[in-house]
Amino acid sequence: MKIVITNTKGGSSKSTTAFQVAAAYFLAKKLDVTVYEFDDENQDSKVFNKSLIKSEQMMVGDGREISSLITPIILDKAKNAVLDIGGNKTTTLFIDALKKSRMSIGIDLFIIPMSGGSQDLQNAKKTYDLIKEFNKPIIFCLSRSRSKPGDNRIFFQYGKFFSDFKDANYFILQDSDCIDLSRMLQKSVFEIAGDKKTKESLEGDLVKAFEKDDDKRLTLAQQMIYVSDESEVFSKECLLPAFKTIDSILNAKK
Ligand SMILES: Nc1ncnc2c1ncn2[C@@H]1O[C@H](COP(=O)(O)OP(=O)(O)OP(=O)(O)O)[C@@H](O)[C@H]1O
Ligand SMILES: [Mg+2]
Repeated sequence: MKIVITNTKGGSSKSTTAFQVAAAYFLAKKLDVTVYEFDDENQDSKVFNKSLIKSEQMMVGDGREISSLITPIILDKAKNAVLDIGGNKTTTLFIDALKKSRMSIGIDLFIIPMSGGSQDLQNAKKTYDLIKEFNKPIIFCLSRSRSKPGDNRIFFQYGKFFSDFKDANYFILQDSDCIDLSRMLQKSVFEIAGDKKTKESLEGDLVKAFEKDDDKRLTLAQQMIYVSDESEVFSKECLLPAFKTIDSILNAKK
């Protein structure tokens, strides 16, 4: 399977969606997956060293090499790959290369993330217009949501999205400290949620801080334990429904 994450807007949650949702979707199925970050500047993929999710940075340069970078990934049919495409010029260079090389043939799904701002929506529309001619399934990720999935309050924060895209497929990613904890612990929220060892090590930190009367460290350990508990809720309420949405789209395609 090949999933492309794209929005021309910088900071619209592309790398978060790529790693925490699209790549974790394969982990949940106990499958191998690699995130390819097409971006010369960002190296977000390097943050998650302790994850089972593999990652590689792809240098885009002036765009001439993109076709030869994409082709082997697409032709490796057994490979599960998530392609995280940098914003602005990188997006247009990547989409042009996908068109010219005809390698869109091997893409199973596009995900367009947004992080709530009106600029993100405008760029999401622009991105949608660029990729719709590929005739592949498209899902929107409504990230940094201030409400839980299932709460009608989302129609307030994302009102303009719902009026512009009436029948679009989407999933919701709540704005959460779990995303920050995940960066600190260098593995995905999905992995933290089910991981006893992470919990034990955080509990161990708290005990050490208590024994050494280090109140600052104890408070930090305490907060990290709270957020790690929240990761289980986040996984259940946000990630599993998002995986289900991806599954239903990919299976409907077959
Ligand atoms: N649901 C969320 N909850 C909390 N923080 C989030 C969420 N989504 C994104 N963020 C944070 O917002 C920032 C931007 O997100 P991210 O790096 O995923 O965007 P991007 O589109 O990949 O940016 P760039 O264009 O620079 O590559 C990051 O610090 C990320 O941790
Ligand atoms: Mg990024």
